[in-house]
Amino acid sequence: MNIKELISEEQIEERVKEMGKEITDYYKEKTDELVAVCVLKGSINFYSDLVKRIDMNVLYNFIQVSSYSGKNTTGRIKVKSWVEESLEGKHVLIVEDVVDTGNTLKYIIKYLERQKPASIEIASAVVKNVYQHGVNVKFPGFDLGDYFILGYGLDYDQKYRNLPYIGYVE
Ligand code: IMP
Ligand code: MG
Repeated sequence: MNIKELISEEQIEERVKEMGKEITDYYKEKTDELVAVCVLKGSINFYSDLVKRIDMNVLYNFIQVSSYSGKNTTGRIKVKSWVEESLEGKHVLIVEDVVDTGNTLKYIIKYLERQKPASIEIASAVVKNVYQHGVNVKFPGFDLGDYFILGYGLDYDQKYRNLPYIGYVE
């Protein structure tokens, strides 16, 4: 497979640092505690880098969903595990790897809303502009067109997640 670098390690590092500041500034007036929800597996690297750049108490939470098989979305969302601690009254930040059709996030938001959090916002490393996904991503990392990307947590059939940069398949 021919993988080309699209976003370098340095670009990611710099942008994540900025995003941490944007998130800190945004929540400063509202709360001193944030629940960051990591959407496994793809968000693991972004999550780990981002929480270190948020200057307030960050509580960790992990959920796992999948809707992809190979390069194509199956349209079916599978839930493998969910948050156990109550989110009632908490400020929740969903940390996602990439928003494409937006279906996964809509599903996650609907689920989390049932627990009556004080707020739900989204940080995504990459936001694709292929679909009218209709999801309000308050903290987008990089905007992208129609690429299938991998690396920095993102996979192609479970492989290439550990590439330090974001690449695309030619
Ligand atoms: P959506 O539900 O279509 O927005 O897709 C979101 C999920 O699909 C993401 O959380 C990723 O796990 C996966 N995904 C979407 N686009 C890509 C890609 O280009 N490479 C790898 N995974 C992707
Ligand atoms: Mg994902």
